[in-house]
Amino acid sequence: MNDLKRSLSEAAAAAFQAAGLSPDFGRVTASDRPDLADFQCNGALAAAKSAKRNPREIAVQVVEQLKADPRLASVEIAGVGFINMRVSPAALAARADEIAADERAGASLLEQPRRVLVDYAGPNVAKPMHVGHLRASIIGESIKRLYRFRGDQVVGDAHFGDWGFQMGLLITAVMDEDAFIAALMDKLPDAPRDFSDADAAKVRAEFAGRVTLADLDRLYPAAAARAKEDAEYRDRARKATADLQNGRFGYRLLWKHFVDVSRVALEREFHALGVDFDLWKGESDADPLIAPMVRQLEDKGLLVEDQGARIVRVARPGETKKKKLPDGSVIEVESPDPLLVVSSEGSAMYGTTDLATILDRRQSFDPHLILYCVDQRQADHFEQVFRAAYLAGYAQPGGLEHIGFGTMNGADGKPFKTRAGGVLKLHDLIEMAREKARERLREAGLGAELSPEAFEETAHKVGVAALKFADLQNFRGTSYVFDLDRFTSFEGKTGPYLLYQTVRIKSILRKAADQGAQGGAVIVAEPAERDLTLLLDAFEGALGEAYDKKAPNFVAEHAYKLAQGFSKFYAACPILGADDPAVRASRLTLAQTALKQLELALDLLGVEAPERM
Ligand code: ARG
Repeated sequence: MNDLKRSLSEAAAAAFQAAGLSPDFGRVTASDRPDLADFQCNGALAAAKSAKRNPREIAVQVVEQLKADPRLASVEIAGVGFINMRVSPAALAARADEIAADERAGASLLEQPRRVLVDYAGPNVAKPMHVGHLRASIIGESIKRLYRFRGDQVVGDAHFGDWGFQMGLLITAVMDEDAFIAALMDKLPDAPRDFSDADAAKVRAEFAGRVTLADLDRLYPAAAARAKEDAEYRDRARKATADLQNGRFGYRLLWKHFVDVSRVALEREFHALGVDFDLWKGESDADPLIAPMVRQLEDKGLLVEDQGARIVRVARPGETKKKKLPDGSVIEVESPDPLLVVSSEGSAMYGTTDLATILDRRQSFDPHLILYCVDQRQADHFEQVFRAAYLAGYAQPGGLEHIGFGTMNGADGKPFKTRAGGVLKLHDLIEMAREKARERLREAGLGAELSPEAFEETAHKVGVAALKFADLQNFRGTSYVFDLDRFTSFEGKTGPYLLYQTVRIKSILRKAADQGAQGGAVIVAEPAERDLTLLLDAFEGALGEAYDKKAPNFVAEHAYKLAQGFSKFYAACPILGADDPAVRASRLTLAQTALKQLELALDLLGVEAPERM
């Protein structure tokens, strides 16, 4: 089943070919003058250039061919050789029927599905989240859903930050504060020999009462601040990190406790945001692969000594950038920077973990593609990791892709924060959005007849939709300003507007069902029926673009246009009020199909509409 754009492109390609020209010129797009045409093809201009012929003359030839196409009501040449097409009402109706009968509302499945791993959110144990994590969660969730919907086999992994220096910091801070735990650490053996699971569970039960999530939230920022000033403290934390990574048993138990406590809390918060992972692996999971990987990199001759550290050079010969030295002089250095694999202290670094994680993923899932939905600020990091992975043969060229994005900023133009001190609490953010949503609902007189629980649920959905849609409607590379008043408005290009329209269609359809009305074959007569059908047809194109560009904004845009299109259709074309039963049935089908597609699109954005409001 093809969308009109695709099938008309095929027809145009054949027409160009018949004129002795490359079929590639037959690309058809939606018209940018909907008052004049439904679709257009500009290929005659490019074809004329390459064949050194007159564009109009080519257009005449192509149009002659296309005129025979029964689906086209008119094919005309505009200007110097643009080809404008109008689709016949019958062809539009046939397409609408097809979409109406399709469970996927007109969206095709990929011919060659792949295994794709989406690495997104990337929260850390104890270390507070920032907007980068929020956007990564929202965008990554949407990309995961989109890829899966189109037929890829997809795994979404949270890639939990559970292995770095912050773990040593926390261990140090907890031991400093709690003499009992410090003493326990001294008592425990270095390795878990002679230590049963039951013994370990007993120790962990001690932690449970003594170190809570609130403790972690409180201890981490203080420890991080102290480590910045206090060299002795920093060294202790480094030592604790190294001991943990080298397997010190007591630390491992304590660490596991931190990981569990924060994971439970984080998963709950993500879930409230409609973000759910298939896999919750941590950086630590790649740890056992690091030592053999380092040996292998060495064997491959990729590891180079550099001032006591070991690095992989990733720049190609001649790839350099200018670097300013402290004395003011400027030198040329290789670019990208080498990947630091083993620090001079012998620790594995962030990039080391990422490289080893590629190996881990290859063993477990063997993805064709790994998408890293991570803040644009980490672009250099990924460039280094990817290049090193390609050099080592850990991934096929192109099999790793960084899906970067800009920031959500506060009114001050800096990355948004919910609390003094820069802590972004997902929980607070959602609560802020929910509170605003309650206000907005009351203002608009919505949800008044709902039970208190149902009202709360609706407010939650409206709040989450507001946050997510505000993010996803922008191309991901664009930064935007956090403005909850605008995000939560029921008017304009917002999540709440989309939910409102969705609920409205649902209520129209409920009424129709109550009256026993039935859908039927689509008839395209009124301009609004035509426009709505063309919109329904455009779903496939929007999904394709979003997929290829890894950019959910194309889905968001489609959902918005569809909601608007339905609104115009409903204003112009009464459904139950139509006199002709065939027209009534047709319009009902159009409304049902619009709803199905709108809900699918919203789901791809990670947004859920309530039944009523
Ligand atoms: N935890 C990291 C951070 O907070 C993000 C992880 C992103 N994913 C990755 N594979 N490096 O910056």
